[in-house]
Amino acid sequence: MSDAKSPKNLATLTEAELRLYAQARRPKISAGNVSRTEYQVADEWRDVAHGKRYRIITYGCQMNEHDTEALAGLLKAMGYEETAVNEEADLILFNTCAVRENPENKVFGEIGRLRPLKRRNPELLLGLCGCMAQEKVVQAKVQTTYPWIDLVFGTHNIHRLPDLVMQAVHSQETVLEVWDKSDTIYEHMPKVRKAGVRAWVNIQYGCNKFCTYCVVPHTRGRERSRSKASIVEEVRELVEEGFAEVTLLGQNVNDYGLDLSDVDFADLLYAVGRVDGIKRVRFTTSNPWNFTDRLIAAIAETDTVCEHIHLPVQAGSNRVLAKMNRGYTREYYLQLVARIRAAIPNVALTTDLIVGFPTETEADFLKTLSLVRDLEYDSAYTFIYSPRTGTPAAKLLDPLEEAVKKERLNRLVEVQNVISRRISDRYLGSVERVLVEGTSKTNDRLLSGRTRSNKIVLVEGAKAWIGEEFPVRITDGNTWTLRGERLPVSGAQESDGV
Ligand code: SAH
Ligand code: SF4
Ligand code: F3S
Repeated sequence: MSDAKSPKNLATLTEAELRLYAQARRPKISAGNVSRTEYQVADEWRDVAHGKRYRIITYGCQMNEHDTEALAGLLKAMGYEETAVNEEADLILFNTCAVRENPENKVFGEIGRLRPLKRRNPELLLGLCGCMAQEKVVQAKVQTTYPWIDLVFGTHNIHRLPDLVMQAVHSQETVLEVWDKSDTIYEHMPKVRKAGVRAWVNIQYGCNKFCTYCVVPHTRGRERSRSKASIVEEVRELVEEGFAEVTLLGQNVNDYGLDLSDVDFADLLYAVGRVDGIKRVRFTTSNPWNFTDRLIAAIAETDTVCEHIHLPVQAGSNRVLAKMNRGYTREYYLQLVARIRAAIPNVALTTDLIVGFPTETEADFLKTLSLVRDLEYDSAYTFIYSPRTGTPAAKLLDPLEEAVKKERLNRLVEVQNVISRRISDRYLGSVERVLVEGTSKTNDRLLSGRTRSNKIVLVEGAKAWIGEEFPVRITDGNTWTLRGERLPVSGAQESDGV
């Protein structure tokens, strides 16, 4: 195993070797002793903010959306109520993302625009939290350029929110409390989930992968798994509250349990998938690394687990993948997709792609294009590489002009859009099981739901159908959205999809 770090070798490793490799990496990067404890809102903070209002503006990934549900839960326990209007708020929190530069600039722009409001209402508290808050450069910028921000805290001390808000109320200075790591997982933090059909459930925090371009391991710390029992209990509670679908969240869900002694992600999927009353289970994100045959079997065998895998590949060239430290080759990834498609017929695959990584040549980029053409993803999130301070890639010479990066992005998007449209067209005439989530954002006479493959389907029908899953014949559609008609359950000729 001494040379197993060479990405070339990873393509030919057996399943057993893959596990050994993953374990071999563990001691160097483990989160240390992680304790798991029940969270209690301290009595002194209960209802202290009765009658006051908060607004949280959220950027970034599902993990951040879910953190916002916990922030809202803590504020509610303090007595705050939500408002969507800045002028009505007593507390405005920016829960931020640091993964690319653009959203970061947007946050500072938004905060700048709130300055007049803050002048008019000195009682208004402004807070910055989430991944940007973990960055030293951001902390410095707040202190030098935005000293009127009242409160800064990071991803590791969300549970401290009530205390920090009360400190900010009484302080003239910015209250800044950012931790470098967390060694406690708090269970049962209060949460305000958007009422509805789908709920997020954290299964793992942090990331150990250190892809050279990525800030997440720096902002979220090392991988820490929640216990299987707590996760299953939370899913049971969600079903009791009326949720039909859960999405299990982690940066590398395949690594779930590597820091526990006797459980892996396959075990967890079997357990969550069996919870009485749960209709659908989804998960994100699966880094291609450590995608074992056991895991593929768990997805294939568990009826409630949907046939959709988000499997970010990032690039199609082995030279770029190695520079990114992704830990796999193009060949390994192609093999993995072949294994998945053989075991899970009609699986929908989606991906993330970065163009313009430092030193990416036209030949490298063409390898990304050919991989995308060959694999035919259902859809892809495409990004231009954004240098992040403190990451190894930010130190690489980056001779590529912005115009070249943009042109590559456009070519990639064009290729993917044609494929996504072709895949959508294949649904026409088929019958899909659709779980209705709510009304359409643009037309409230239409219901909006999803296929198991995660395609959005609009159906005419009664609001009482929200939360129901039923067969729908697909009659029309465009690249992103399908239209269909509900079929009676009995006598419907259900196909298995496309
Ligand atoms: N843990 C997931 C990815 C989480 S970040 C995984 O590894 O699969 C979500 C996506 O943001 C990444 O997949 C990547 O495509 C993109 N991303 C991350 N850092 C980036 C950067 N510095 N520039 C551009 N895109 C980036
Ligand atoms: Fe970032 Fe890589 Fe971790 Fe994903 S696996 S969060 S891209 S470091
Ligand atoms: Fe962004 Fe942090 Fe998520 S950097 S993508 S909000 S983990």
